[in-house]
Amino acid sequence: MPVIKVADIAYGRLQSPSLDEAEEFLTNFGMVRSDRTADALYMRGTDPAHHLHVTHLGPSKFVGLAFLAENEEDLKKLSKVPGASGVENIDEPGGGKRVRLTDPHGYQMEVTWGMQQLPALPTRRNVLNWGDAKLRRAGELMRLVRGPSQVKRAAHAVIMTQNAAERIKWYREMFGFVCSDDVYEGSKDNIIASFNRCDRGDTYVDHHVFLCIEGPRVGLNHLSFEAQSIDDIMLGHEHLKRIGKYKHVWGIGRHVLGSQIYDYWQDPWGRVHEHWTDTDVLNARAKPNLLPAEEGLSSQWGERVPEAFITHAVP
Ligand SMILES: [Fe+2]
Repeated sequence: MPVIKVADIAYGRLQSPSLDEAEEFLTNFGMVRSDRTADALYMRGTDPAHHLHVTHLGPSKFVGLAFLAENEEDLKKLSKVPGASGVENIDEPGGGKRVRLTDPHGYQMEVTWGMQQLPALPTRRNVLNWGDAKLRRAGELMRLVRGPSQVKRAAHAVIMTQNAAERIKWYREMFGFVCSDDVYEGSKDNIIASFNRCDRGDTYVDHHVFLCIEGPRVGLNHLSFEAQSIDDIMLGHEHLKRIGKYKHVWGIGRHVLGSQIYDYWQDPWGRVHEHWTDTDVLNARAKPNLLPAEEGLSSQWGERVPEAFITHAVP
């Protein structure tokens, strides 16, 4: 039995040498400033969470991840794990409580509860006349306003490691993640990527919320955020391309595992941020799968995964 079963991912924490440049990138990526102090930046999406991305001022670094507890009682359970912090009040904008742990890679893993919720932000109206729903926009014209994507919520994070099959066990044990798909290369015991979702019983959740992938480095491979729609992904892509100062990594395409329509960009310090829309959702009844890399890590459409992506990690 895991110590607890987390409900979702909450945010990622990075450290960056310039909060101005961080805010500029994240704004162009489609987030909105929730708060900013002398030494930290808190960005939100259109969903009510106070923030889904934290940047601390300092040399470029991946600090860690935060997940949402199902209830306050789970924080108490987690605080009893050897090495865990006690239940702390979060002394930051958005407040709430948390327990901190250090993962096997040395990164800070927080589980939070009770962070402030804000009113949801308005989104671009995007009603599609397609497939079997040809009249959803009957009599109404589609006129999209150009600009950044609109990030909705934090979605998943990927840590590159060595011996991913062993490394993932700690996260499953602490946070209750369950395997959606493991991917192997060569022999079936050579797991190179493990896709894990939250266990919320009968409730359907995203195909993956946390991955360990095998690679030449240890660190953050990418942080991922859900955007509003396929138009939103395309508008965000064009917006970042038009600005011309950020590096595009991979996309637009549709993944096999999770089926998301994806697009990946680097921030000014090489940290990869993903936009996606439309995911497979599974509940606890879904059985884990084992797939070969050629099948699992390819795309349903779009270009093949670039080498630069699968070898990428920032400490
Ligand atoms: Fe991803």
